[in-house]
Amino acid sequence: MDVLTTRDQVAAFSASHHAAGRRVGFVPTMGALHAGHLALMEEAGRRADAVLASIFVNPTQFGPGEDFERYPRDTEGDLAKARSAGCHAVFLPPVAEMYPPGADTVVRVPALSGPLCGASRPGHFDGVCTVVLKLLHITRCDVAVFGEKDYQQLAVIRRMVRDLDVPVEIVGHPIVREADGLAMSSRNQYLGADERREALCLHRALAAAEAVWAAGERDADALEQTARALVAASARARIDYLEVRDALDLTRPAGPITGPVVLAMAVWFGQTRLLDNRVLA
Ligand code: PAJ
Repeated sequence: MDVLTTRDQVAAFSASHHAAGRRVGFVPTMGALHAGHLALMEEAGRRADAVLASIFVNPTQFGPGEDFERYPRDTEGDLAKARSAGCHAVFLPPVAEMYPPGADTVVRVPALSGPLCGASRPGHFDGVCTVVLKLLHITRCDVAVFGEKDYQQLAVIRRMVRDLDVPVEIVGHPIVREADGLAMSSRNQYLGADERREALCLHRALAAAEAVWAAGERDADALEQTARALVAASARARIDYLEVRDALDLTRPAGPITGPVVLAMAVWFGQTRLLDNRVLA
C-alpha cells in the first residue's frame, strides 16, 4: 500500500490506474478508523479496481470551540487498518497541501446545509463540501463511497456533485453498528462508561419510531415524540435535534407523510455529540 502526501503523487497514482483501464474508488475520512470506515473501503473495492482512502482532519469543517485539536489521531494504526481493508493507497496530506496560503474559495449547498447539523454547526458543510470537492478533483476517482451515518453530509455531497457536474459516482453505504446497536464513530472513544451505556438510547429511539411507522403512523410529530421519549429516558442525554425530514431534500413534511423520510438525531453526552438516523420508507 502506498502512502501519498502530495497532490501530484495522488494524480500519478490515479493516472497509472486509468492508463491501464482500471477504475479508481475513493473513501475520504478523518482517520481514527473503525469498522464503519473499513466497510466503506471494502465497498469501494467491490466497485473499483484500485482503492484510495484519504485521512485528513479537515480544519475548515470544525467551528470555533469544537474538537479539531483533540480529534483522535492514530496514523500508524490507521494505515494498518486501511491496508487490511484492501486499500492500495492512502493520501495523508499536510494542511498546507490542501489549503495553500491564500486559499479562499468556499463551496456551499445552502438549502440542504441549513437544517439539522447545519443549524447547530454553522459553516460545517461549507468546509465539508470544499474539502470533498477538492479531494474528488485531486483523486480523479471514478466512484466515491460515503456512509449513511452522516445522512445529511451524503445528501449535501450528492447535490454538490449533481449541481457542479462532477464526473464521479457517489455511493452510500449503510450504517455500521457495534454489536449492541451503537453506530460506530471515531467520537465514541470520548464516551465514559456510563455515557457509552446510555448512548444506546439513540438506537432504541430509532427502533421505537420504526415500530410505530410500521404500524402505520404517518405523522412527523408523533414519530418524533416516540423517539424523543426514549432518548429522554437517559439522564445524561441532551438532544441537539431529533427530526423527521424528507429523505431526499431534507424539508419538513407538511401534513401526513407520503414519501420516504429520515428520522435524524444528534444527541450530546457530556462533551460528545453523537449522530444516528433511520430511513422510514
Ligand atoms: P469521518 O467522520 O472520518 O467519516 C468518513 C466516512 O465514514 C463518512 O462517509 C462517514 O459517513 C463514514 N462513516 C463513519 N462512521 C460510519 C458508520 N458507523 N457506518 C458507516 N459509515 C460510517 O465524514 C467525514 O469523516 C468528513 O466529513 C469527510 C467526508 C472525510 C470530509 O472531511
